[in-house]
Amino acid sequence: MKNLVLVGFMGSGKTAAGKPVAQRLGMKFVDMDEVIEERHGQTISRIFEMMGEAFFRQQERALVRELASGEDRVIATGGGIVLDPNNLRDFGRTSVVICCWVDADVAYERTKDAKHRPLLGLLGTDADRRKRVETLLHERELLYKAIPLRIDTSAMTVGQQADEIVRIYKQQAAL
Ligand code: S3P
Repeated sequence: MKNLVLVGFMGSGKTAAGKPVAQRLGMKFVDMDEVIEERHGQTISRIFEMMGEAFFRQQERALVRELASGEDRVIATGGGIVLDPNNLRDFGRTSVVICCWVDADVAYERTKDAKHRPLLGLLGTDADRRKRVETLLHERELLYKAIPLRIDTSAMTVGQQADEIVRIYKQQAAL
């Protein structure tokens, strides 16, 4: 079966909903950040700190090329995958790509206690972090909204999000 690729901002539920979706579709779940961490033996935060964001983006790009050529996977991408248009082009050729939209307030709430997202700042106050979410999301909004298959997860539970993703995937796979 065609890959199912979940794209969206940090806190949009790509991983949380992607896991049960993979189980229900009988496909393998792949979290791109996790693969990069395993291959480097380091956390994403550490990779950003030691090698910089540009290096991370290169690793991400290489992994997209690798995964786009396969099938039978539900792939949770990192929130910044949309920054390089080649990534969406490659996945678009072989996979069903669904964007999980999330509003800034909800993205902030869902990410505020996690410590593994270097772009949201590991230090700083809650207000700094809230501002960072808003700025980054605003910068990327048009990139996410250019993805035709899109759901707004802001008011959804993980279960509702998973149902919706499965429904869209089945509809697309049948085309
Ligand atoms: C990033 C999102 C993160 C991770 C890295 C950069 C981004 O993934 O890839 O911290 O640029 O939005 P999640 O969206 O899974 O948190």
